[in-house]
Amino acid sequence: METFMINLVNRLRVTQFLLTIIITTLLYSPTWPFSAAAASTTTQLELLKGFKATPDPSTTPFQALLQDSSNNFAFGFLRTNETLLTVAVIHLPSYEPLWVANPTRFAQWSDTTQLSFNGSLVLSDPRSKVFWSTGTQGDRVVLLNSSNLQIIQSLGGESATQSALWQSFDFPTNTLVENQNLTDKMALVSSNGKYSMRLGEDFWGLYAAFRQGSDKNYYKHTAMEVKAQIVKGKGPIYAQINSDGYLGMYQLGTRPPVDILPFTSFQRRVNGLLRLRLEPDGNLKGYYWDGSNWVLNYQAISEPCELPSPCGSYGFCKPGSGCSCLDNRTDFNSGQCFRGVSAGDFCGDDVTEKNFWVLRREGVELPYKELMSYKTTSSLEQCESLCERSCSCWGAVYSNGSGFCYTLDYPIQTLLSVGDQSKMGYFKVRISPRRHRVGVLFRAMIGVLTGIVAVLVGFIGFVVYKKWMKRRGQKRFLEEGTGGASPGPYKDLGSASFRSLEMCSR
Ligand SMILES: *[C@@H]1O[C@H](CO)[C@@H](O)[C@H](O)[C@H]1NC(C)=O
Ligand SMILES: *[C@@H]1O[C@H](CO)[C@@H](O)[C@H](O)[C@H]1NC(C)=O
Ligand SMILES: *[C@@H]1O[C@H](CO)[C@@H](O)[C@H](O)[C@H]1NC(C)=O
Ligand SMILES: *[C@@H]1O[C@H](CO)[C@@H](O)[C@H](O)[C@H]1NC(C)=O
Ligand SMILES: *[C@@H]1O[C@H](CO)[C@@H](O)[C@H](O)[C@H]1NC(C)=O
Repeated sequence: METFMINLVNRLRVTQFLLTIIITTLLYSPTWPFSAAAASTTTQLELLKGFKATPDPSTTPFQALLQDSSNNFAFGFLRTNETLLTVAVIHLPSYEPLWVANPTRFAQWSDTTQLSFNGSLVLSDPRSKVFWSTGTQGDRVVLLNSSNLQIIQSLGGESATQSALWQSFDFPTNTLVENQNLTDKMALVSSNGKYSMRLGEDFWGLYAAFRQGSDKNYYKHTAMEVKAQIVKGKGPIYAQINSDGYLGMYQLGTRPPVDILPFTSFQRRVNGLLRLRLEPDGNLKGYYWDGSNWVLNYQAISEPCELPSPCGSYGFCKPGSGCSCLDNRTDFNSGQCFRGVSAGDFCGDDVTEKNFWVLRREGVELPYKELMSYKTTSSLEQCESLCERSCSCWGAVYSNGSGFCYTLDYPIQTLLSVGDQSKMGYFKVRISPRRHRVGVLFRAMIGVLTGIVAVLVGFIGFVVYKKWMKRRGQKRFLEEGTGGASPGPYKDLGSASFRSLEMCSR
């Protein structure tokens, strides 16, 4: 009995000792997985209420905070432009951003920026306040193995029913991944904000924001309706990338796709993730991950000259030989074909003065002209005058053969160069009224500056002169003072200024 008690006490001591060691190690170890400090650098499988993280100054380009069970995707801080930060979901093996939060402003990559979860994911900064917030009241954040970031609300007890209050799949940026739905209420937008992809009643289209408030449709894919017909009023259309390697279009409520757009990997078993991205040049490209690279397996526009604006404003694109300028006196390699202010149309306030000059070029064709409307006119002059008279027209392209007259209601982009000289282009080039105004302002400012300088020079001259006079007076006074006799007005003048001079030198 006694030996047993001694044994027990010894054992307790040993246990206590071990516990002490464990606790000390855990408390002082920097890798203690649940400490608040380490939470920001440790990737977790879910984020609970109270979660807070700040970016690590040395991390680049991505700091993971949450990962999915397959270890393919992570959610965290993404560095943009060296010092800026946003939150994103990336594909871990390639660091390719698949989803990026769309904040009103970018946050700084600094330790004052914080991502927290209080039911809502909030990216904030104590000075500038909230940059981005999901505006939800959920219980936890998870990253699914599809790369979908979800905010979950657990409903009622242990029955484990739960619902996603918010998911990143509903707010796509420039990328659509496998099994993500693109509905008629969503759009993919290129990273530079110039191009978008949207669904219509029975098609999906690519649009360019050449002019504010009006999108130009430059590519359109209409549903083939082979396996299923679109039934009007039955439900909205959505698009989804299928793991079999195609972009399907569906009508909600019907299972067979109304359209199948096969990628080059169609029905070839590729195990890697498929994704579609709207590129900064306006092309829509599909890729699959082969384990070490993203392999291109689809592109909407294969001829570079058919892109919305491959050579920029007033550019001229010749298939097979690249870019030049519509104005043959401008060298494309100088950087830009058009050096004006392209904002706004020609409907200026001063209608009496012509605010443009005209550039003409033969052998010109519109890209994506099948999506443009036209009028038929009997001559080139008639076509040009349609455009000339309308201040919201930037240019016109006329085909002498067909009599088709296309007028352009957006700033001139890149046109196609064709051998057919009977296709003629008429383009307005802005004489910038702003430049004129700037000139007037500049001249006015020069005038004002000259005036100011003249006044200043005069003033300084006056002050110097006065000082000099005072000095002379003082010198005389001193000389005279030592000399005793002080005749004349110098003494009177000097006595006051001498005192002030003395005060100053003290
Ligand atoms: C979470 O924090 C944000 C920002 O501080 C605040 O606006 C919001 O009301 C909070 N939400 C909840 C559910 O507490
Ligand atoms: C993703 O998770 C689901 C269950 O949530 C599972 O059925 C599926 O096999 C997983 N996919 C991958 C690629 O791991
Ligand atoms: C995509 O849409 C289908 C049909 O509405 C729906 O069943 C599915 O849950 C959606 N998928 C996602 C990830 O939202
Ligand atoms: C430029 O175009 C004008 C009008 O089409 C033509 O007369 C001129 O010869 C061209 N100049 C050059 C250098 O090609
Ligand atoms: C346009 O076509 C007419 C007749 O079809 C022809 O007389 C004229 O020379 C053509 N003009 C040009 C610039 O090709």
